[in-house]
Amino acid sequence: MTTHSPAGGVAGPVREVRLDRYPGAEGVTERDFAVFPVTAPASPGPGEALVALRRLGMNAGLASRIGGPDTAYGPGVRLGDVPGSDAVVEVVASRDPALRPGDLAVGKVPWRTRSVLPASALRKLPPDAADLGLESFLTVLGHVGFTAWTGLVRVGRVREGETVFVSGAAGGVGSCAVQFARARGARVIGSAGSARKLALLTGVLGAEAAFDHHEGPAADALRAAAPGGIDLFFDNVGGEQLEAALEVLRFRGRAVLCGAASQYARREVRGPANYVRMIYQELTVRGFTVTAHEELRPAFEEEVGALVRDGVVRGVHTTAEGFDAVPAAFAGTLAGRGLGRTIVSVD
Ligand SMILES: NC(=O)c1ccc[n+]([C@@H]2O[C@H](COP(=O)([O-])OP(=O)(O)OC[C@H]3O[C@@H](n4cnc5c(N)ncnc54)[C@H](OP(=O)(O)O)[C@@H]3O)[C@@H](O)[C@H]2O)c1
Repeated sequence: MTTHSPAGGVAGPVREVRLDRYPGAEGVTERDFAVFPVTAPASPGPGEALVALRRLGMNAGLASRIGGPDTAYGPGVRLGDVPGSDAVVEVVASRDPALRPGDLAVGKVPWRTRSVLPASALRKLPPDAADLGLESFLTVLGHVGFTAWTGLVRVGRVREGETVFVSGAAGGVGSCAVQFARARGARVIGSAGSARKLALLTGVLGAEAAFDHHEGPAADALRAAAPGGIDLFFDNVGGEQLEAALEVLRFRGRAVLCGAASQYARREVRGPANYVRMIYQELTVRGFTVTAHEELRPAFEEEVGALVRDGVVRGVHTTAEGFDAVPAAFAGTLAGRGLGRTIVSVD
């Protein structure tokens, strides 16, 4: 076994974040999690690698698994559990020929500063990873980018000239979906929760119009932005905005259900009251789970890798510094505090 000491603070005592209490009526807060010191992980066995956390991505969807059932994304999170999400890690020691000490890799890892993982759970980053920025592999080129591309391009079949509405458009998945739709020649309308996010959408990411879902009925704002209706809806939040899209979709329009962030903290999930629009308008409404589409990853990496290298699309992220910031960063993702994806930097 070969070993390596990564630069930076990752070499300190090992710590992990655990669910410390179930969220109360106010929804998920940073106080629901706590950071604990733990003994250093054992040396890796055959086919395993010891890795140090470098960048940890926050996923809103994890909230739906707290105290809940196992899903395709991972097990339900119970008291004392260490959640996991996609991260860039640095290999410290390896007993697998595919990974060498010092390599950077991406994979779904526990919220712990160092872990022993099967090498098969990690994908080595390309040689120009540092030039592209490590965060790119947690945004446009990572899990959220793959989710946006799969939903928009393969499930939603976005076409040039169409009008596309993206809800939660300034978040991790949403900021990718907006740019991918633009790159395919669509006209994009985005919704988000603050003036800063609206400025990102129309000023930087190329959306033609954007509205704040806190300011008045979403259906009115959407109709004003798209008087002729929308062709495709990419939904990250559900609830009122899903109802608004069903009202404004054109005859035979399509809706792709990616997530339902507005529903994760609710005891009773609210379905669309106007679902009969699906009948009258002959709408196609399709949900998808990105983990069921792994065979699309090479096509995604080829297309989006070229868009990133050509400067057509860019990763959008907000950085939180240091492992102790994980609980607040996760709660902040749900509260919509960051622009793009929230990423904890552990250098
Ligand atoms: N289908 C799949 O395979 C798959 C894979 C990954 C993620 N997802 C889903 O994709 C969605 C986006 O994930 P993400 O990690 O990129 O999160 P995110 O969009 O960065 O964060 C969630 C956003 O949802 C918005 N939101 C939260 N509560 C809301 C409410 N009550 N009403 C309206 N908007 C609300 C907030 O944005 P504002 O501040 O703008 O309101 C918040 O920033 C999530 O629903 C996630 O579960 C699906």
